[in-house]
Amino acid sequence: MTLRARKTVEGLKEYHPPLGGRDGLRLDFNENVGGCSPRVLAKLRAISSETLNKYPEREPGERAMADYLGIKPAQTLLTNGVDEAIHLLAETYLEADDEALIAVPTFSMYEIYALATQARVLTVQAGEDFKFPTEALLKAIAKKTKLICIANPNNPTGAAVPRAEIATILKAAPNAAVLIDEAYFDFYGQTMFDALGKFNNLFVARTFSKAFGLAGFRMGVVAGSEAQMKLVRRVSSPYNVNGVALECLPEALADREFVASYVEQVKRGRAKLEAFYRERDVRYWPSDANFVLAYFGEFRVAFVQEMRKRGILVRDRNSDPGCAGCVRITLGTDEQTERLLKTLPEALAAIGFQTQRSAESKR
Ligand SMILES: Cc1ncc(COP(=O)(O)O)c(C=O)c1O
Repeated sequence: MTLRARKTVEGLKEYHPPLGGRDGLRLDFNENVGGCSPRVLAKLRAISSETLNKYPEREPGERAMADYLGIKPAQTLLTNGVDEAIHLLAETYLEADDEALIAVPTFSMYEIYALATQARVLTVQAGEDFKFPTEALLKAIAKKTKLICIANPNNPTGAAVPRAEIATILKAAPNAAVLIDEAYFDFYGQTMFDALGKFNNLFVARTFSKAFGLAGFRMGVVAGSEAQMKLVRRVSSPYNVNGVALECLPEALADREFVASYVEQVKRGRAKLEAFYRERDVRYWPSDANFVLAYFGEFRVAFVQEMRKRGILVRDRNSDPGCAGCVRITLGTDEQTERLLKTLPEALAAIGFQTQRSAESKR
């Protein structure tokens, strides 16, 4: 007899982000590649052994976060990144044979955590323009739909969902937990936090891994109605967020200038990269996030390799549903954008790139 995992787990596909060998300019993971707030670093250097030897206290952090978001602490749960928030919602709301609904392409962890509960995952494919397929999603909502996850703006497409459409979905699925994942909020600017009081089934999440430059801290937040968050807390470890990150959180929240300056740079870079794609007649999808997805067709593999040779990592998204031939590039500081825009033409010349418009129209 050998030890067997649950059948559901044995059948799960592995999510394989590269977990090593990411030397170079990392424009592949949508992190803040410019660093983090100097105030956070100063706090980090002043951490005492007490922070490490006592169990972390989440409540003061939740009060600070609730204040920052303009909601109540009882609505607020700090999580080990948004990844954990997704996991907790799946654990709280999905029974075996329930349905989770997602529009693809999107962030992989929604599907993985939902499947791990033995629920079924229904996917709705976005069209070629990658606009959020609201109509199709509304049609797919059924009695068994218990979880709907929407990244707004979406990863890897950068497309945003208008508030009115989100409200329609919330009303159409009163029995489902609807997660609006605002991981890229800072680069977009529209939020659903102010609607929390209106919808009992709405959950909103944010991460500190992107604009705040704290991916290594693993800090996220999910908020919902007080009554629902009481239930979500039941499946969370009381010490899910580490003490070092908690101690630094107030500094991260207070340094608004750091985030504002970084976001400005990313937005400038995004406009420049999109302009570059237009000039070179490369098909791209206009983005509201800190990255842009573009179509390189048959040149995709060579392009990614050529960029790596030149010290810049970009992300091949070929295997995402509907993204064959696509590569996603994250934007960073002005300096990094300058380097990117200098390197791109060199890499494209080295692979003899020709625009893929004709190939693309055959897709
Ligand atoms: C839409 C979306 N949500 C969540 C995450 C993960 O966030 P965290 O680092 O807080 O777990 C990502 C990371 O790529 C993402 O793209």
